[in-house]
Amino acid sequence: MGCLGWKNQLFCLLVILSLLFHFSSSFSSSLSSISPCSALLHFNHSLSLDLSASPSYYTSRIQMCDNSYPKTASWKEDKDCCSWDGVVCHQTTRHVIGLDLSCSWLRGPIHSNSTLFFLPHLRALNLAGNCFNESLISPEFGKFKTLTHLNLSYSCFSGKIPNEISHLSSLISLDLSLNNGLLIETPVWKSVIHNLTQLRELLLDQSDMSSIRPNSLMNLSSSFTTLSLNYCKLQGKLENSILCLPSIQTLDLGFNINLDMGSLPKSNWSSYLQFLDLSSVSFSEKLPDSIGNLKSLKYLDISNCNFTGSILTSLGNLTKLTYLTLSSNNFSGLLPLSVFNLPNLSSLYLDNNQLIGPLPNHVSGLLNLKDLYLSSNFLNGTLPSWLSNLPSLVSLSLNGNQFIGEIGEFKSNSLKHLDLSYNKLYGSIPRSISRFVNLTYLSLSSNNWSNMLELEMFSKLKNLVFLDFSNNLVSINNNVTYTLPKLSSLNLSSCNISEFPIFLRIATTLQFLDLSNNRIYGQVPKWLEDMGRDSLYFLDLHDNLLQGPFPTLSFLSLEYLSVSNNKLTGEIPSLICNTSSLYVLDLSHNNLSGVVPKCLVHSNVLSVLDLRMNSLHGTIPATFSKGNHFRNINLNGNQLEGPLPRSLANCRNLEVLDLGSNKINGTFPYWLEGLLYLRVLVIRSNKFQGRIGNPKTKSPFPNLRILDISNNEFNGPLPIKYFKFLKAMTNVDEGKVALKYMGDGYYQDSLNVMMKGLYIELVRIQTVFTTIDFSNNSFRGEIPKIIGRLKSLKGLNFSHNNLTGYIPPSFGNLSNLEWLDLSFNKLIGEIPKQLVDLPWLEVLKLSHNQLTGHIPFGKQFNTFDNDSYTDNQGLCGFPLSKTCNSLEAKKPPPLTLQQEDYLGPENGFSWQAISMGYGCGVIFGMLMGYLMFKIGKPKWIVRMVNLE
Ligand SMILES: *[C@@H]1O[C@H](CO)[C@@H](O)[C@H](O)[C@H]1NC(C)=O
Ligand SMILES: *[C@@H]1O[C@H](CO)[C@@H](O)[C@H](O)[C@H]1NC(C)=O
Ligand SMILES: *[C@@H]1O[C@H](CO)[C@@H](O)[C@H](O)[C@H]1NC(C)=O
Ligand SMILES: *[C@@H]1O[C@H](CO)[C@@H](O)[C@H](O)[C@H]1NC(C)=O
Ligand SMILES: *[C@@H]1O[C@H](CO)[C@@H](O)[C@H](O)[C@H]1NC(C)=O
Repeated sequence: MGCLGWKNQLFCLLVILSLLFHFSSSFSSSLSSISPCSALLHFNHSLSLDLSASPSYYTSRIQMCDNSYPKTASWKEDKDCCSWDGVVCHQTTRHVIGLDLSCSWLRGPIHSNSTLFFLPHLRALNLAGNCFNESLISPEFGKFKTLTHLNLSYSCFSGKIPNEISHLSSLISLDLSLNNGLLIETPVWKSVIHNLTQLRELLLDQSDMSSIRPNSLMNLSSSFTTLSLNYCKLQGKLENSILCLPSIQTLDLGFNINLDMGSLPKSNWSSYLQFLDLSSVSFSEKLPDSIGNLKSLKYLDISNCNFTGSILTSLGNLTKLTYLTLSSNNFSGLLPLSVFNLPNLSSLYLDNNQLIGPLPNHVSGLLNLKDLYLSSNFLNGTLPSWLSNLPSLVSLSLNGNQFIGEIGEFKSNSLKHLDLSYNKLYGSIPRSISRFVNLTYLSLSSNNWSNMLELEMFSKLKNLVFLDFSNNLVSINNNVTYTLPKLSSLNLSSCNISEFPIFLRIATTLQFLDLSNNRIYGQVPKWLEDMGRDSLYFLDLHDNLLQGPFPTLSFLSLEYLSVSNNKLTGEIPSLICNTSSLYVLDLSHNNLSGVVPKCLVHSNVLSVLDLRMNSLHGTIPATFSKGNHFRNINLNGNQLEGPLPRSLANCRNLEVLDLGSNKINGTFPYWLEGLLYLRVLVIRSNKFQGRIGNPKTKSPFPNLRILDISNNEFNGPLPIKYFKFLKAMTNVDEGKVALKYMGDGYYQDSLNVMMKGLYIELVRIQTVFTTIDFSNNSFRGEIPKIIGRLKSLKGLNFSHNNLTGYIPPSFGNLSNLEWLDLSFNKLIGEIPKQLVDLPWLEVLKLSHNQLTGHIPFGKQFNTFDNDSYTDNQGLCGFPLSKTCNSLEAKKPPPLTLQQEDYLGPENGFSWQAISMGYGCGVIFGMLMGYLMFKIGKPKWIVRMVNLE
């Protein structure tokens, strides 16, 4: 920079001075004498200006950096710094007493040697909304002896809050919030509470206070006006008298999900309270009527607090309220009219409760209402006309209720968010929607609209980001040519469309596209490759009529791809491997040929690989890598051959492995027994052979619930040692297993299983579903009685083998058993009486054996017919026509001729009869639990194939 002209001379002098200071900065004694103006200048020079250091930040309470600009950019070195933007000087002494550089684009660290600390007279310091590069809050901040207001919020400080903060004994207001996990330790906290006796405002939102005892808040001075500890990881009990601090105006304890307040005070609330956020704090008592006393309250958030009971009418007394949320509680009963008459309300959230009944017919007030969320309740009736007349409405969410009828035309055009999905609305879609030029979110899914939807209607909605019209009974006219430049998510699933919507052609911002369950036919168009090339992460085209070879998709960010249930032919292009983030790949139920691409098996990201029911051949690539993330591998119903690759043992997260109906050979894959999470192992209908032998580890298959090795060429005795250790199957406490389905948020596992003689596709697998199927092999020898320990079993099939000996009476312990098939063996002796006590047994197949004696009677046994027992010469009694003579009936029950599998009493092996209800109705109900039928448009269809 040139030093030309007299105006610049002072400037140059200052620069030289500051350079001098720079070079001598190690001599801090010389620094201490620099003037406040050069200190400021120097401080400014130590940082850089960067717009991205001051991004805007909004919550319902906080608005930060809305209009940020670099205040220091206008600082002119030749002027008195008292005139600089953000600097305040004392009128007489000219000392710098205030510095407000909030949201000024400052970036860089503030070290302890910063000249910021050479402003000894500072009273107010505000550096909020900048980014100080994760530097620590320097202990030097403790030197501002005269500081009354310190705001370092939202400015990328990190680490521990230094104890020196508690030396600022004049401090009235301290704001260190929004610094991403700033750690506050107990000693510092104690000094802050005890030393800073003038403190009235304390804001520490998003700090880590997990080691602080919540009840220490009780020591706060009674003159506190603001306490904001949102998302501070506070845990444990907090007395509700914190709400009785006599001067408190703002109290924010929201999002401390492990904080327990028990109840709200019945009286003595601070009457100044204007802002109260207790969201996600848990309560065990109902909301008290006294909340109606908080006459100054403007903002109330008690969402997700475990409140029950009805919504109190007394809330209608809080006439100053502008913001009210009671979301995600268990509030029940009717909506109180009083809440809808609050005159100043701008946001009302009552969603995710159990509210019933209709909306009020008439309301007063609500002229300022912007946000109305009533979703996920049981509200019903028709939509009243005031709803479409609200003049200021911006967001309306009524989804997940039981509203019926037509919705009227909207009067105002202010809507940005409209969600009417999952109701029973019918009639036409309001034409007025086409005027909402600011609309970003529109979901009309899952209703009963009766008219054809003209996509033309949305042509002016250039701000639309999210559009969901799925699951309606009407069809869509998608023959439109306009573009929606901001569209990111489109769901037209189950809309009866037969072509790809053309307006997607230029949808370069698309991230989510669901066109599943339609009648789209023919080849996947070329342009699909370009659509959302860099943005698309979800593409679902399942259940259509797509044909031809698979398009060479190269969506770089694709995470989910389902094209199942189409008619695709050709090979799986290995180009699919270029998508490095692919997490779910479902190409099942097509006609794909060729081999399984190596790269898929080699992936370190893929979690679900579902290629079942195609015509793939060749061997399974042997390159499963260490540390992969496979959770579900389903290659059922192809023509794969060769042995199983040993590297499958690298799939440490594997839960489902289904290789059924291929031509795979080799011996039993005992080397999978170490997979801790494996729940389903299906290798049925292949060419496996040989004896199963003993496990090689102490706890083989600890989580296995479904084991199907039927239709192979296994021989030798049944693997008693495996039966001994199948831990998940011996779990008696089924009642405590939550009714869950296998899979994850992205993908629900489904499976073909043999159940009660039917081959069924379980579209969802209950986690408790437990079966063993060893049928159609050449196992011989006796059935080990230890199987009686596998109490979780719902189904057991040993049919079509060469088993001999007795049916173990221990089967009477299989109290969850619903089907038992031992037919086509060489079993002898009587049917154990203990089986009568199996409360859920619905299918029993013992035909084609050499069983003798009296068929047990009573309970479930009264429901079985002749077919259960065919071709057992020695059996008699109901339902067979052959009656038993007294000799047969008196034969002693079989004693143990069984294999040596005594386990000793410590195993809790007991013969207790289980008395539970029984009967066909109950059984059917139970069974339905595994299957998921969806009425209307099928999503999770159960496909039944009767093999018999
Ligand atoms: C200030 O301290 C930091 C960190 O200790 C150091 O990197 C920097 O060089 C120092 N600056 C000056 C001007 O001495
Ligand atoms: C303030 O805190 C500091 C550090 O914890 C301590 O040394 C000092 O004695 C305290 N002063 C008062 C007045 O409590
Ligand atoms: C939720 O409320 C019920 C009573 O309504 C209580 O029994 C339960 O303990 C509460 N849960 C929590 C986490 O506070
Ligand atoms: C609410 O206001 C009504 C009428 O003004 C009054 O009768 C009632 O006591 C008030 N309730 C509370 C809790 O303040
Ligand atoms: C609305 O729900 C309530 C309570 O569940 C019920 O009594 C009433 O009949 C329903 N009304 C309509 C119109 O469905």
